[in-house]
Amino acid sequence: MGEGKISLDLRTSDRRLIGRSGLDFAQWRESYPELVTALIGPAPGYAALPDQQVSDLLHWVEPLKGGCDDLVLLGIGGSGLGARMLNCAFIEPASRKPGHPRLHVVDNVDPRRLRHLLGELDPHRTLVNVITKSGSTAETMASFAVVRGWLREALGKDYGERVVAVTDPDLGDLRALATAEGYRTFDVPSDVGGRFSVLSPVGLVPAALLGIDARELLAGARAMRTATGNPDWRKNPALALALALHQHHLAGRRIVSVMPYADGLRDFALWFAQLWAESLGKRRRGTDPYGPTPQAALGVTDQHSQLQLYVDGPKDKVVWLLEVTDTGDDVRVPPQTDEYSSLGYLGGRGLGELLRAELKGTVLALLRAGTPSLVLTLTALDERSLGSLVYLCQAAVSITGKLAVVNVYDQPGVEEGKRTTYAYMGREGYIERLAEDELLLAGTDPDRRLHRADALVSEA
Ligand code: PA5
Repeated sequence: MGEGKISLDLRTSDRRLIGRSGLDFAQWRESYPELVTALIGPAPGYAALPDQQVSDLLHWVEPLKGGCDDLVLLGIGGSGLGARMLNCAFIEPASRKPGHPRLHVVDNVDPRRLRHLLGELDPHRTLVNVITKSGSTAETMASFAVVRGWLREALGKDYGERVVAVTDPDLGDLRALATAEGYRTFDVPSDVGGRFSVLSPVGLVPAALLGIDARELLAGARAMRTATGNPDWRKNPALALALALHQHHLAGRRIVSVMPYADGLRDFALWFAQLWAESLGKRRRGTDPYGPTPQAALGVTDQHSQLQLYVDGPKDKVVWLLEVTDTGDDVRVPPQTDEYSSLGYLGGRGLGELLRAELKGTVLALLRAGTPSLVLTLTALDERSLGSLVYLCQAAVSITGKLAVVNVYDQPGVEEGKRTTYAYMGREGYIERLAEDELLLAGTDPDRRLHRADALVSEA
């Protein structure tokens, strides 16, 4: 089944082919009315993104062409992974497109990286894109404060011309700071959460700056949005993906390995892992927590690593393989003599051919071992097909949330971690948690509990 440039093949998850670890498609037909109900409901915020106008954005980017060598993106989680995915798909393995900057995503606060990066860059030729929807995430705000200081030292009071902020339209400290300092800003719609925001300015601002076609990304998403309204799972890849992964989960196959056979989709696997984990890993009232564990892998590289586990390890996994049919001009192995048997047969063959043969090998190895898989095929890796793939995954996670009865749009576990960080870093309004947190860490040792609690109260 498929939408234009995307098709999803579920045969290697079919019980008739793979046996006990497969899905019973006949049973899907029986429970179909209930499953279709899962599609119905108010459209989530991200569903409107494919219709957005990007002329303002493209107009703003135009005069910047050729004006900077480096783009430093400060953003974490949903505010950083989308740009990474786009850069991996359309810019790498080159470092940048002619006339456009090269991207550096700073989504960690390990001082080693930022110190090194700022030591390498020329502030006069660098643009800083700070992205945080809440406008308060500690990692992003801390890195931005450092980078802002670095820019200001070199450029003086006009430093703000080299900053573009993407944040909530009204709320948060970044919005206030941007207004006070006169940064160019773009809005994250208030009803679109981090991991659903790659098709908003969160992904489109860096995309446009890097020379990636934002309009094509949105066109691909629009086409997939139409397909995701189809109640027939054979014609709706998002529904098929959601149903298949949910049914595997219910049957105890709770690990979803995402294994694209394309370097350009390497960071898609990381983006998907966040989308799936942060959206679906949830407590549920009156029943067990829900949560498939996503695992990012890369074909063929991980054939020499994780594949052993997928084939012979516990039968608790489903492997989602992705292939791109058009790999561009193939790279041919020059003709070889038969002197060395491990080279002779490769002479005249293409690396793309080898990649496809390896994927087939993986599908069959998994099938023989009784490990179910799904195979998604993109005819080409271009902006349109990636826009479709992104929308497909977001729609699939929304449907899975309905099937599993979890709210895919919140992230209380992540917020809890943020609050604890604020407390340890002394942010006003959070310090009261410290004594309680430390008592928890100290466990039952009475001396340690008293000692740490006293120390913290005096530190605070
Ligand atoms: O998906 C999410 O909501 C999170 O991963 C956020 O994107 C992440 O925590 C960063 O949040 P913010 O954009 O507010 O800095």
